[in-house]
Amino acid sequence: MKLFLPEPLRVGELPIKAKEISKAYGSLKVLKDLNFTIVRGERIALLGANGTGKSTLIKILNGVLEPDRGEVIRDENLSIGYYSQEFESFDLNKTLLESLTEKCSFSEGAARAFLGRFNFLGNKVFQRIGSLSGGEKTRLSIALLTGNNHNLLILDEPTTYLDVLSQRIILDTLKEYQGTMIIVSHTEEFINELSPDKAFLMPEGQMVFWSEDLLEKVGEV
Ligand SMILES: Nc1ncnc2c1ncn2[C@@H]1O[C@H](COP(=O)(O)OP(=O)(O)OP(=O)(O)O)[C@@H](O)[C@H]1O
Ligand SMILES: [Mg+2]
Repeated sequence: MKLFLPEPLRVGELPIKAKEISKAYGSLKVLKDLNFTIVRGERIALLGANGTGKSTLIKILNGVLEPDRGEVIRDENLSIGYYSQEFESFDLNKTLLESLTEKCSFSEGAARAFLGRFNFLGNKVFQRIGSLSGGEKTRLSIALLTGNNHNLLILDEPTTYLDVLSQRIILDTLKEYQGTMIIVSHTEEFINELSPDKAFLMPEGQMVFWSEDLLEKVGEV
């Protein structure tokens, strides 16, 4: 099944750089002097046990949260698509079709075809978002993110509590995505199939080339 995702917007060779990032919540020091550069097109798995600061780092990269020290340097053409359950912002009264035609530049026909590839078939596209299951909402989020031409996707645990079908569809979609990606997931099979180029390890704050022995870290919680 081919999805034909929109091509990501052009962006420079180094879409995003983090310099000397530090962040504490009160006396809890979460991030300490993190430095890294992400190269266009790279898929990066952000790995680390619970509470090591993955979501904090992601929010800082996104600009949702300011670091205490350091800075994030973003390419002027950077366009980030961000997924986190916490930040899922849907208008629950809208139908799937309305949300897609409003948030992505699709005609109604194209939107229906696109939704169909996410297994939202027939009259399902007229259903209100409020009545979708958790897995369906995540599937819709990924449709909305990849239906746009973002050049960086930052995905914070998109596979948590997913049914098998939703996981399969999301995985196939992300495999096809041509832009740069930073992903947190504790699902080994998912990360393995995405075959990341690199991993950023927390709490070490170290970027390393991907190798299969890192898979055992994926499941660490
Ligand atoms: N707004 C906040 N105020 C206070 N402490 C916070 C806040 N957000 C996170 N923390 C704490 O900071 C630490 C890092 O949290 P963060 O959510 O970034 O970790 P994480 O690696 O994403 O964890 P998980 O795998 O559970 O999602 C944790 O100890 C968490 O309890
Ligand atoms: Mg987290």
